[in-house]
Amino acid sequence: MLLHLKLRLELQLLGRCAQLVINRHASKGNVDKEVMEQMEKGYKKLAESKSKSLLKKHLTKEIFEKLKTKTTPSFNSTLLHCISSGMCNHDSGVGLYAPDPEAYKVFADLFDPVIEEYHKCFKKTDKQPATAFGKGADFENLDPDGHFIVSTRVRCGRAVKGYPFNPCLTEADYMELESKICGAVTSLTGEYKGKYMPLTGMDKCIQEQLIEDHYLFKEGDRFLASAGASRYWPTGRGIFLNSAKNFLVWCNEEDHIRIISMEKGGDLGKVYDRMVGGVEALGKQLQFNRDERLGFLTFCPTNLGTSIRASVHIKLPNLMCDPDEMKKLADKYRLQIRGTSGEHSEAKGGVHDISNQRRMGLTEYEIIKEMHDGIKGLIEAECKAKSA
Ligand code: ARG
Repeated sequence: MLLHLKLRLELQLLGRCAQLVINRHASKGNVDKEVMEQMEKGYKKLAESKSKSLLKKHLTKEIFEKLKTKTTPSFNSTLLHCISSGMCNHDSGVGLYAPDPEAYKVFADLFDPVIEEYHKCFKKTDKQPATAFGKGADFENLDPDGHFIVSTRVRCGRAVKGYPFNPCLTEADYMELESKICGAVTSLTGEYKGKYMPLTGMDKCIQEQLIEDHYLFKEGDRFLASAGASRYWPTGRGIFLNSAKNFLVWCNEEDHIRIISMEKGGDLGKVYDRMVGGVEALGKQLQFNRDERLGFLTFCPTNLGTSIRASVHIKLPNLMCDPDEMKKLADKYRLQIRGTSGEHSEAKGGVHDISNQRRMGLTEYEIIKEMHDGIKGLIEAECKAKSA
């Protein structure tokens, strides 16, 4: 208990230090002495730690030495911006974020191997294929009798062209972005018609209910906070919800825009088609930032490419009896298992959140197919395990 408290305190302090420094930019291409010291200290701690993060694995001494003096041309971002979350949170799975789009190039020696490993072999010579949504209607309902899947959700992330990511956004940028995004979402029509609710001034009860119902993002994610993504919170943040509450848009949380479609049951194709319709409608009003090689640009390297995460809340009681076997099976299908309230959360009532792991190297349609075939495989395995 005491040890736990001590650890929490240390983490909090570390988080605070990193944020102090992260707010300081390098001056004209030179990394400040204070930033450098912070980086050296954090790097040493991470290297000595038992962290299993991809950051720790790929930030070798050689790469650290090569990158620590570099800055991005437009925003003067440093390596510290990229690694501070993983340095503060040794329990990160990845631990790396891009403060601005140029960081993916300037710090490519670190981003490339992390991207390659996370997205299961997207090499630095590979290129994200052109966007191809296809038709979700090609896929049958994964659970027509409602035995396993509680709900299905598909989301993607988008960055608005001309703006950096969270750590480099000014308060004015947040407000400007919000006003552009709000303008675009509130002009949607038909099934997409809805209401934008800014976080600023939102009633606490309403906010808590929206989080509880899995519509709204949680506040105070320590991984994001130490990456410099919670500055000026809640300014510029908000959520758009259509009237059927099955289509939503997050504004300025981890990414500038998150476009989400969700509903009860296992009709993945239908949920996907609704998200695609929304993305296409918004793309007519906003210019999204897409890179030739990396695809749609996002703050976290895990979301590049298609930026699509399709997930189901699913009950697989027999498979879940053996978590190690379950993990192996999920890996085989390139699926990721999370807790019920999203990332870094526990599973409640035997319900797990299972999603596609990779988002790159395949088209949008192929990503959904990979998810569809994987979940179908898991359900078949569950039925076999039950009758065994
Ligand atoms: N930085 C966190 C970690 O490494 C989250 C990584 C992926 N999730 C995300 N929301 N971007 O564990």
